[in-house]
Amino acid sequence: MKRILLSVLLLLLTGIAAVAAFGYYLVDDTRAVPVIANDISASDKVSKGAYLVKAGNCLGCHTVPGGAPFAGGRVLKTDFGQFFTPNITPDVKAGIGSWTADDFWQALHNGKSTNGRMLYPSFPYTNYTQVSRADSDAMYAYLMSLPKSEQQNQEHDLRFPYNNRALLAFWRAAYFRPATYQTDQSKSAEWNRGAYLVNGLGHCSACHGGRNGLGANAGVSDFSGGHLTDWYAPALTNSQEIHLAQWQPQQLSALLKTGVNEHTAVSGPMAEVVAGSTQYLNDADIAAMVNYLRAIPTVTPVEKDMFDKALATQTVSADTMEQIMKQGGALYKTHCMDCHGAGGEGVASIYPALKNNPALLAPALSNPVRMVLAGGFPPVTGGNPRPYGMPPFVHTLSDAEVALVLSYVRNAWGNQASVVNSAEVNRYRTAAVD
Ligand code: HEC
Ligand code: HEC
Ligand code: HEC
Repeated sequence: MKRILLSVLLLLLTGIAAVAAFGYYLVDDTRAVPVIANDISASDKVSKGAYLVKAGNCLGCHTVPGGAPFAGGRVLKTDFGQFFTPNITPDVKAGIGSWTADDFWQALHNGKSTNGRMLYPSFPYTNYTQVSRADSDAMYAYLMSLPKSEQQNQEHDLRFPYNNRALLAFWRAAYFRPATYQTDQSKSAEWNRGAYLVNGLGHCSACHGGRNGLGANAGVSDFSGGHLTDWYAPALTNSQEIHLAQWQPQQLSALLKTGVNEHTAVSGPMAEVVAGSTQYLNDADIAAMVNYLRAIPTVTPVEKDMFDKALATQTVSADTMEQIMKQGGALYKTHCMDCHGAGGEGVASIYPALKNNPALLAPALSNPVRMVLAGGFPPVTGGNPRPYGMPPFVHTLSDAEVALVLSYVRNAWGNQASVVNSAEVNRYRTAAVD
């Protein structure tokens, strides 16, 4: 019902949007863009651009795994349908070879393609808008230096009414303003560099931030936790989830550089972020990001969606709990203990500890359930070239068994969290086999 109402509302707004679109063009077109004096050599510009493109992980979204770099075609599954990323190689017909540095800046800073075509925020320009003109020009120079690909762009496959690009005018009017990063004079240069990278190119909040029903982020520096299609990107500043203020700086820098630290390992979409982006950042930039992230004030935990809430409050009798711990414990011994240890202590930088692991104890169950069903590998990085993986259990354990073993690890060794039921496991089973 909520969705139907939303659709009707959106339809009504289409008319307004068409008008708004026109108005928006008049007031918003920042064609009068700042031009930067040519103070660095062409080759320095290209290598600076290469570095910044890594900081933005542009390759990750704009490349099909194993396909031609930056030729697009990667599918992004969202609640609104599927996006197919475009070709951003310098091919004149298929890519952005006819674009000027101004056009490129319009895309990054203002979310508009050539001819003023409004872009969907699945391209995280809501974060990239923070990027400076000088950095945008360097990225443009780098992309123009790359091999061309003739790979054709594919139409997005979006549900009605989201397939109507004109509606973006309304969305933009409500949720987007182009904004260059403003230095906070009361903070150190290092903090400012960190904020610039995390909130701009790093687009951490694009996943770790909350979103409303129309996919709008609460802000570039909102890290209150976000649901992706099959994963949950935990809150980074919440005492019940990932509480970065309490991490040692070196734990976070190791995780961003290598994908593992002595307690935990990144997986899924976060493994892609580390593999494609943060592992390449220099020590000074990593230190700046760590400085900024650890200084973000802790927020009060908020209830996640209704589903999680229902689970979090699910209680079982002492007898049932005893049964769960017995059966789950036996499964743990057979299938998990060799790697994660008899006391859930893991092996530093090889197998994550399960005792006191916030990723396992978070109210959102998608990540641990997926991990047990589909298994996973931390990313291959310079600092961890041969990561140890976790095998998939999708064909070995039933939904009920996965639920039992997860309920066990969430409540053994002093851990305390809600028990898991088989319905929750089943919810992710199909995704795990894909
Ligand atoms: C999360 C995935 C994602 C990331 C990361 C990403 N893009 Fe994109 N990008 C997209 C999608 C999806 C579109 C298509 C949007 C649309 O059709 O409205 C797009 C569109 C574009 C366009 C417009 C192309 C055209 O033909 O209109 C440019 C230019 C672009 N991206 C450059 C970049 C650069 C540079 C980076 C890195 C700083 C980057 N993108 C990172 C998903 C991404
Ligand atoms: C494409 C989505 C995405 C982006 C972008 C992203 N993350 Fe994540 N992140 C995730 C997901 C999903 C998880 C949960 C899986 C895991 O624990 O590795 C996660 C987990 C984490 C964790 C906890 C890791 C652990 O195992 O305890 C940290 C810390 C983190 N991210 C920091 C960052 C920072 C800093 C950035 C920006 C540079 C960032 N993330 C960008 C999706 C993302
Ligand atoms: C062969 C060794 C191995 C076995 C057996 C194994 N794991 Fe893992 N486990 C790992 C590795 C390695 C990772 C990190 C994977 C990644 O980052 O993608 C991991 C990650 C996890 C995580 C996510 C932790 C985090 O910090 O994000 C959970 C939960 C987990 N395992 C539970 C289990 C359970 C339950 C079992 C038994 C059913 C099991 N594992 C069996 C090696 C193993």
